[in-house]
Amino acid sequence: MARKITANLYMTLDGRGAFPKYPGSDRTSKEPSDNWRRMWLDRFDDVTTVVMGRRSFLGHRRVWTEKARSPKDPKYLLDYARWLDRVEKVCLSRTLKTPGWENARIMKGDLSGIVARLQGENGGNIILEGGPRLIQDVLRRDLADDYWMILQPVVYGRGPEYWGPLKQQRTLELLESSSLEDGELLLHYASRR
Ligand SMILES: NC(=O)c1ccc[n+]([C@@H]2O[C@H](COP(=O)([O-])OP(=O)(O)OC[C@H]3O[C@@H](n4cnc5c(N)ncnc54)[C@H](OP(=O)(O)O)[C@@H]3O)[C@@H](O)[C@H]2O)c1
Repeated sequence: MARKITANLYMTLDGRGAFPKYPGSDRTSKEPSDNWRRMWLDRFDDVTTVVMGRRSFLGHRRVWTEKARSPKDPKYLLDYARWLDRVEKVCLSRTLKTPGWENARIMKGDLSGIVARLQGENGGNIILEGGPRLIQDVLRRDLADDYWMILQPVVYGRGPEYWGPLKQQRTLELLESSSLEDGELLLHYASRR
């Protein structure tokens, strides 16, 4: 079966990739929120590869390894860090020489070629986990089968942009939508091709 390609977006209402503060945003609950469960826990078994641009990769490497976490963290956060340690990670970079994270490799070049190469390898589904510039490239090239978006209730006004000029519009099919506990929207779209 073909490896499904999913793009993840966490963005403000004005389409910026940022993690702003708003009421409830810095609450860490002992149990995973519905949003966390749907974005991550439910997908642990199907996804075996996570692709990130270099800046996002380094950001994740700094905070989302088991070593970087505290043993006192809630179990679901430790589970997420362990899962990220374990899955294959692809860091896109022309400048980084070594990934410095287990089960990771560096790839560079044309994004469509990289995705085609990954699809030709053995494995489960693939998540394209940002950053925003990488997702812009994904959209421009129509590389994702589906998109998971968390829309935060903030107009932020700065930060990297998800949306940019396209030669052709992209029309998506809404698969599910829900509002989350702190006013975010979770949107799941499939690409219409
Ligand atoms: N899921 C997320 O990670 C996420 C979500 C929301 C917001 N953010 C925020 O977004 C920011 C980072 O996102 P960003 O869009 O600025 O950067 P990014 O996509 O994470 O990284 C950009 C870098 O990726 C490398 N790259 C991308 N495509 C490549 C290709 N085809 N071949 C080789 N290298 C390639 C280049 O690295 P080199 O310069 O090394 O060549 C480029 O400078 C952070 O501030 C983060 O907090 C991240």
